[in-house]
Amino acid sequence: MDKRPIGVMDSGLGGLSVARVLQERLPNESIIFVGDQGHFPYGTKSAAEVRRLALRIGHFLVAQDVKLMVVACNTATAAALPALQAALPIPVIGVIKPGVKAALAEEPHAVIGVIATTATTKAQAYEHELHRQAPEVRVQAQAAQALVSVVEHHQTGTAAAQAAVNAALAPYQTQPVDALILGCTHFPFLAPEIRRCLGSAVRLVDPAAETVAAVANELTVHDQLNPAGGALRLCTTGQLSDLQEGAKQWLPLLPAATTYETLTL
Ligand code: SIN
Repeated sequence: MDKRPIGVMDSGLGGLSVARVLQERLPNESIIFVGDQGHFPYGTKSAAEVRRLALRIGHFLVAQDVKLMVVACNTATAAALPALQAALPIPVIGVIKPGVKAALAEEPHAVIGVIATTATTKAQAYEHELHRQAPEVRVQAQAAQALVSVVEHHQTGTAAAQAAVNAALAPYQTQPVDALILGCTHFPFLAPEIRRCLGSAVRLVDPAAETVAAVANELTVHDQLNPAGGALRLCTTGQLSDLQEGAKQWLPLLPAATTYETLTL
């Protein structure tokens, strides 16, 4: 048993799509969430810069005495996961390996689409992991950086959001896929728009559930589950009001005692 919190980081609000599943599946765990809105977006930055930013947040979370860190950001996972694992004295779990596991868990997966940021797409992070786990699978990756801002700027559910999704996913109309990995943690918040665009035959893969399963497994194996707790501390390097709005919109289990904090990192 270990009452210390779990640290969760993202470039912005997208990581809340992982935090909400953590709250559902591991309700006794306390969470410290850091949204690096002050440096958003990560997806247009170099891998070296994203690594620098992610390491800074990792060291901050370790200083807060977290027992485990979740990199709830695909761009940071692609650029910084090995560096974080080497630098920090705690387990660090990313979203790409769990996302691939979830994508390959169900048939058919002959052709798998991936939408992600420019940086994740350029790094071919999902292609490499998909081909490592399933050499025969065909992958159609598509950068969809514009969709990140749609979520970050609270435009989900609008006609503008649907138009942006339709434009980003246009290649999949002529080159259909069996499943589509939502390879950016912002994108699950656009699932209704994506479904309307692609239809219900395409399976949408949100890496969050499998990521949280990896967290649960790590804590169980090391007897580190929290028997009681569930506190939530939400931090941002940007505008507090943005984070508060995102939390209210996307965290159905938002505790009344949630604390909010602006960080200068
Ligand atoms: C971004 O900041 O561009 C999005 C990061 C991500 O979730 O990949």
